[in-house]
Amino acid sequence: MLKISNRVDAILASKSVSMVARVAELQKNGIPIISLSVGEPDMPPPQEVMEEMYLAQKRGNCGYGPVSGHPVLRKKLAEQMGEAVKLPIRMENIFVSNGSKQILYNLFQTILNPSDEVIVPSPYWVTFPEQIKLAGGKPIFVPCLPNHQLDLSAIRRAIGPATRAIILNSPNNPTGAIYSNEDVLQILNWAQEFNFSVISDEAYAFLTYDKKAFTSPLTLLKNSCTEDLLSRVLTVQTFSKSYAMTGYRIGFLVGAAELVKNLDKFQGHVCGNVCTPAQAAAILALTMPQDYFLQMKATFERRRNLAHKLFSQLFDIAPPPGAFYLFPRCDQYYTDTIKNSEDLANYILEHAQVAILPGSAFGAENYLRFSFATSEQEIEEAFYRIKRVLGERK
Ligand SMILES: Cc1ncc(COP(=O)(O)O)c(C=O)c1O
Repeated sequence: MLKISNRVDAILASKSVSMVARVAELQKNGIPIISLSVGEPDMPPPQEVMEEMYLAQKRGNCGYGPVSGHPVLRKKLAEQMGEAVKLPIRMENIFVSNGSKQILYNLFQTILNPSDEVIVPSPYWVTFPEQIKLAGGKPIFVPCLPNHQLDLSAIRRAIGPATRAIILNSPNNPTGAIYSNEDVLQILNWAQEFNFSVISDEAYAFLTYDKKAFTSPLTLLKNSCTEDLLSRVLTVQTFSKSYAMTGYRIGFLVGAAELVKNLDKFQGHVCGNVCTPAQAAAILALTMPQDYFLQMKATFERRRNLAHKLFSQLFDIAPPPGAFYLFPRCDQYYTDTIKNSEDLANYILEHAQVAILPGSAFGAENYLRFSFATSEQEIEEAFYRIKRVLGERK
């Protein structure tokens, strides 16, 4: 009889990944589901980026490459990140992996020992706690305030001798919140005082609205020497959302050269390098004129406005400043038979044929997550279906 390890037995399957499979299955059976559950741009990358992958292969870029990433990609990323955060970032500070998901996995494996604690503000992206557990660490959840900002006093209380890191995800999945610079600065000061790392997951850094820009924590500590700063603040980014390149699986870390060396050692035994031609496509996406991506961002802003205008008729919710999700409270719709967010999401799937995710998947019961990474037509149709099912109650 096949035995599954305790390690894998102890983790939960990703609810967002399993919802994608469930929707595909229902659609295959002819049920006209609208999915507001996906966490990826619904547009492809620019034609040139797609073609570059093929051209790279024709040029012979089909073999293994350096584990930490293609030197040209690492250099360009170092230049661009250095310019963005006004620090002398070098290629040795950049590490490339299969999406930011694997960057984070490698990172937890590389910096955590058994029983080390990582503070995870909730709601959180589904993968953080499971990856921390896979590394033998312990996620310490600290709920955010009702406006989805960090609860500093609760975070301060959670810091203890076993704290190795805190994970900040801003703009946030699932809430869309952008944490205030003052709050992040306070966390950075505590990180110095109590000697832990700040992991900054910036997957949605590019997707901010209302002309609001995201400020990377790397820019907030003015008087640190660069390598010290880069060993304290571990920045994780990805081509998935900003360049609509989810399937290419390219994420990267900006951190101290010493950390990058250890990530290289680890990844060398896990998967080696990231797909070589996909890295060529990433180099092009980074260096080509950015109009396509700016248009994509404008499209998301229009959809955000529409989704907010519609769904605020049913839920009490402010427009999210970043990412592509609405995350409203939903307990006003509970009944004798619909007792939690999972029941409500299932009810909406069954009766309105709209797929959304329950807040419980993100560590926040009594909320629902609606993705607006889909067409305006689908957003409208989904809204009318849900409105019909939930009625006019608010
Ligand atoms: C907050 C956050 N971080 C990381 C990721 C992982 O993205 P990828 O592995 O495609 O870079 C996601 C994907 O949904 C996310 O929402």
